[in-house]
Amino acid sequence: MPRRGRRSASACSSCSRSLASPIPGSSRLADGSRTCSTRRDPVTEPRAYLDHAATSPMSAEVAAAYLEALQVVGNPASTHGHGQRASETLEEARAEIAAALGCDHAELILTAGGTESVNLGIKGLYWARRRAGAGPVILVAEGEHHATVEAAEWLRDTQGARLVWLPIDGAGRLTPDTLRSAIAAAGPDQVALLSFLWVNNEVGTIQPVAELCGIAADAGIPSHVDAVAALGQVPVDFARSGAAVLSVSAHKIGGPVGVGALVLGRRTTVDPILHGGTQQRGRSGTQDVAGAVAFAAAMRRAVGSDRHPTTAHTAAVTTLRDTLIAGIRSIDPEAVLRGPAPGPERAPGNAHFTFPGCQGDSLVFLLDAAGVSVSVGSACQAGVAETSHVLRAMGLPEDDAAGALRFTLSADTRAEEIERLLAALPDAIARARSAGLA
Ligand SMILES: Cc1ncc(COP(=O)(O)O)c(C=O)c1O
Repeated sequence: MPRRGRRSASACSSCSRSLASPIPGSSRLADGSRTCSTRRDPVTEPRAYLDHAATSPMSAEVAAAYLEALQVVGNPASTHGHGQRASETLEEARAEIAAALGCDHAELILTAGGTESVNLGIKGLYWARRRAGAGPVILVAEGEHHATVEAAEWLRDTQGARLVWLPIDGAGRLTPDTLRSAIAAAGPDQVALLSFLWVNNEVGTIQPVAELCGIAADAGIPSHVDAVAALGQVPVDFARSGAAVLSVSAHKIGGPVGVGALVLGRRTTVDPILHGGTQQRGRSGTQDVAGAVAFAAAMRRAVGSDRHPTTAHTAAVTTLRDTLIAGIRSIDPEAVLRGPAPGPERAPGNAHFTFPGCQGDSLVFLLDAAGVSVSVGSACQAGVAETSHVLRAMGLPEDDAAGALRFTLSADTRAEEIERLLAALPDAIARARSAGLA
C-alpha cells in the first residue's frame, strides 16, 4: 500500500488543472498547450456545487459569528482583562464543540485542521505508546485519506514503525474479522495503534466504529479514528465510539479552513509534534479564538443537541442524493455506484459512480464547463492524475477506477443543483467516452 496508478496528464496552461485526455471543447493554444476556455466565472454564473466533501461553504450565520469573534482583542493565555475575555469566548466555544462530539471540554484539543489532527493523533500516539513499551506495529485500514497514509509511511520510513495494511472489501468496509485476524497475526503486544476512517471520504462507507474500537481495546490497542468525513453526516459520539483519539475538521461542515480538533481521551497520551507554550494538552501554539467560535457555530447548524446530524437535514440530503443516483442510472445504465448501497452503511451526502470508458477528470472538466463542480475523489499531485487508491483497494481494475466521479451534498444543496448536473451529464459522458481512456 498504497499502490498508485499513474496516468499521464497535461495541465491547463492557465489554471494548472489536469487535462488527462483530449477533451472536445477544450482549446489548444499555439504552443500546443490546452486551456479550459469554456469555463465560466464561478462567482457570477449560477453553478451547482456538489463537492462538499472537499469543502463546504460557510453560511452567512457562521461567517457573521466568525467576523464578530475576529474583532475580540486578546490572547486567551494572557492574564489581563482582554485575555480573560478572549479565554471565556474560547472556552464557551470549546464546550459547545465538545458537547456536540460527546467528549469533555478538557478532551478537546483545537488544531489547525484535519491534517494536523490526524498527524498528531497517529504520530503522537505512536511515540507515546512506544515510550510505554508497546511494539512498533501500526494497523492501518486500506483506502485511508492521504493524511493518514503519509503520516503512517513517514513513521515507517523514519521512526521504525511496521505498517500492517488491513484490507477493505469491495464496498470499502473494514470487517471485524479482518481486524481480529490482523491483531492475532501481529501479536497484540506488538501493536502500537490502529487507525481507520469513520466514513470513507471518497465512497461514503460508514465503518462499524464501536465494534472495531472495541476489538482493538480488548487487545489493549488504542484506536485513532479519522472522523473528518463523518462529521455532519452521521452521529459522531466520542464517548460511545470507544476511540482513544478522534480527528475532525471544521471546513467540512461549513466552518473555516485551517480549524480542526483532536479529541484526546482523558486516559490517552500523545507526544507533541509542535513544541512551545503547551497551551493545550499535546499541542502548543496560541489558540485561535475566532476559529473556535466559527467551528462551534458551524457545529450548531450541522449537529443537533443529541449529537445527531439534524434529522430534517439528513432526510433532505438523502432524498436529493437518491434522486441523483436514480437520475444517473437512467442516463447511463453502465455507470456503477461504488461503495455500499444507499442505506445505513452509506453516508447520506455521498454518491460515487464509475463511468466505463471515461476518464473521471475529463468528466470533471466537461461538467465544470457546464457549471457543475464535482470531483474525481482522488489525489492529483504535481500535475499527475492518479486513479484512486481507495477504488484500487476495493479491488477495481485500473481502467474501471479511471472513470470515477464523486458527488457530495450538504443540507444546503438545492434540487436545482441536481437538475443542473443531470441536464449536463449525458453530453459530458458522450464526449468523455469519445475521448476515451487515452
Ligand atoms: C477523511 C479526511 N481526513 C482528513 C482530511 C484533512 O482535513 P483538512 O482539509 O482539514 O486538513 C480530509 C480532507 O479532505 C478528509 O477528507
